[in-house]
Amino acid sequence: MNTNLQTHWEGVYASKNFEEVSWFQPVPATSIELLETLNLPRQAAILDMGAGESRLVDYLLAQGYEDITLVDISVAALQKTSARLGHKGQPIQYMTADAGNFVAHRKYDFWHDRATFHFLTDTTARQHYIENLAQSLHPGAYVLLATFAEDGPRKCSGLDICRYSADELTALFSAFLRPVKCIKTEHFTPFDTLQRFTFCLFQYQNQ
Ligand SMILES: C[S@@+](CC[C@H](N)C(=O)[O-])C[C@H]1O[C@@H](n2cnc3c(N)ncnc32)[C@H](O)[C@@H]1O
Repeated sequence: MNTNLQTHWEGVYASKNFEEVSWFQPVPATSIELLETLNLPRQAAILDMGAGESRLVDYLLAQGYEDITLVDISVAALQKTSARLGHKGQPIQYMTADAGNFVAHRKYDFWHDRATFHFLTDTTARQHYIENLAQSLHPGAYVLLATFAEDGPRKCSGLDICRYSADELTALFSAFLRPVKCIKTEHFTPFDTLQRFTFCLFQYQNQ
């Protein structure tokens, strides 16, 4: 666990409401649209890496998904989500972990990551994420990664990030993920600034 990073994120969640952060989406529409094309069974094992206070989980619960894991480096982020969901959140497993050294210990059918992987600017942490992901997917599983695009912002939450085009993201995971659909989106922050994102839906190609 990178404790400096954890301290940063605990500070963010202690001092800001979800509606005030640049990544706020009342509804994570692009993630939902891409997920809906998959028609996953309700028993599918789903993980959201760097879930924060994202409302993706609300959609998953409303659809009746039964096996949901939310991972975040910030304890406060997960506590806020757990408190907000109340008894509705009972099917959820919450895990505090650093994506740069997280080991899943089980396999998933759908792995979602919006704006977390792009914080891994360190080669070792990034390589760890890729290798762990390759070990954490059921045959035929899907992965949805969203990062700042090649012409997106250079920083997020005051931290350096890596920007990716669809081709760059695809190349990075090409050893085990096949692209299904990549799109570039425009996100407007609560302060009305524009952020371009790359969304790539992949399918696991197990040998
Ligand atoms: C920009 S926010 C995006 C939150 C959420 N995915 C969304 O779309 O609303 C990034 C999230 O990733 C978490 N995070 C940042 N670095 C992380 C890391 N190394 N491991 C796990 N979570 C991390 C932060 O605490 C934060 O909740």
